[in-house]
Amino acid sequence: MRAHWSKLGFILVAIGSAVGLGNIWRFPYIVGESGGGAFLIPYFIAILFFGIPVMLIGLAAGRKFKGSVLTTLGKINPKIKYIGLIPVIVTLAILSYYLVITGWTFGYFIFSIFGYMSFDAFTETLYPLFLFFGAVALIALIVKLGIKRGIERTCKYLLPLLFLFILIILVKSLSLPNAMEGIKFYLTPDLSMLSNPRIWLLAFGQAFFSLSVGFGIMLTYGSYLSNKENIPRSAFTIAGADTLIAILAGFIIFPIVFSFGFSPSAGPELVFIALPEIFSVMSFGQIFGALFFLLLFIGAMTSAISMLEVGVTILIDERKFSRTKATILISSIIALIGLPSALSYSGFNITLLGRPFLDSMDIIFGSFLAPIGAISLCIAIGWFWDSKKLLNEINKNSKIKIPYLMIYLVKYVIPIVLFGVFALELLKLL
Ligand code: PFF
Repeated sequence: MRAHWSKLGFILVAIGSAVGLGNIWRFPYIVGESGGGAFLIPYFIAILFFGIPVMLIGLAAGRKFKGSVLTTLGKINPKIKYIGLIPVIVTLAILSYYLVITGWTFGYFIFSIFGYMSFDAFTETLYPLFLFFGAVALIALIVKLGIKRGIERTCKYLLPLLFLFILIILVKSLSLPNAMEGIKFYLTPDLSMLSNPRIWLLAFGQAFFSLSVGFGIMLTYGSYLSNKENIPRSAFTIAGADTLIAILAGFIIFPIVFSFGFSPSAGPELVFIALPEIFSVMSFGQIFGALFFLLLFIGAMTSAISMLEVGVTILIDERKFSRTKATILISSIIALIGLPSALSYSGFNITLLGRPFLDSMDIIFGSFLAPIGAISLCIAIGWFWDSKKLLNEINKNSKIKIPYLMIYLVKYVIPIVLFGVFALELLKLL
């Protein structure tokens, strides 16, 4: 018998996957750069008409066929089974460097209590490597414990804590002097930005990454979903929680950054360079810094768990591996391919395509190939599974029925738009 999530358990593990570094660090930064409040318009459209439909088909396919990404696609049509490898490879490649950053967040959690090390000094040591191995071992342990005893239980304890930390830091952040300046910057809509197609494509890419859709995660988690669950309601709850947390993260980051006179466009460096400087001078900064980095660590870890589970479920369903063996094998591979990312800022200076290895991995897999993974899933499920059956599976226990229009979105509109996202990333790369 395949294990099932409990009702609340499923919502929490899916939110755990969705909420991560993408919400707390990337979203506010992109909003700030892309027209402030105006960015919310394409973003909401991307979530509603693009992210949610892809989430719905993933959950429905996983639940119907009760199998890993490969197993499920193989059951839909044996010819398309191995198309599933595309999103899976993208997901595991992302996991390899995502866990390096997860390690950093834990390092900075410790630093916020005992005193910060500068980012350069930190990354020159071997600490990032040890933290990376620690993060791999920790999520492997949780995934090895299984769907209910491992993943569901971890998310049940940690996610409420994550919400609580967000609220505490939010109150502090909004009470800082000049907080309003930051909020003004964050929310003042620059509507002229909406005529720029780049902003729209950026919103689509961000929506997929943030919701964890198009990576085979919702399909894998859906395969452990009971037949009684209401898929549309779950999808709207997950997307709503993910979006709320992303928006709240902006209300945390911008007041802090503005109060202390930093530039909001500090980009990737913001979290590990600007924020530690700020926490070291803020009143009670030790406590708020520790809460902030712990919250990032929790968000990152619960996302990483979902990525590992994608690979583990494949070995269990396809190769009849025991969960323990599957977890050991996949996490060892992750430890190996993550190694150059973990060392990329160190004295070893490991680069790829002229950039630190980790940055290149993020560009190649996180931005560039991620849309291709999502297109593969839309085509495999949308084109090869009978549309009526697909819609029936989605709407099975729901009073509000998702209309047939969604099938057109999944079959035509979404793949074309995602191809645009891919092309945009390609242009950036050249
Ligand atoms: N949704 C996660 C975040 O916002 O940080 C990131 C993520 C998780 C991306 C899982 C991809 C993935 F497969």
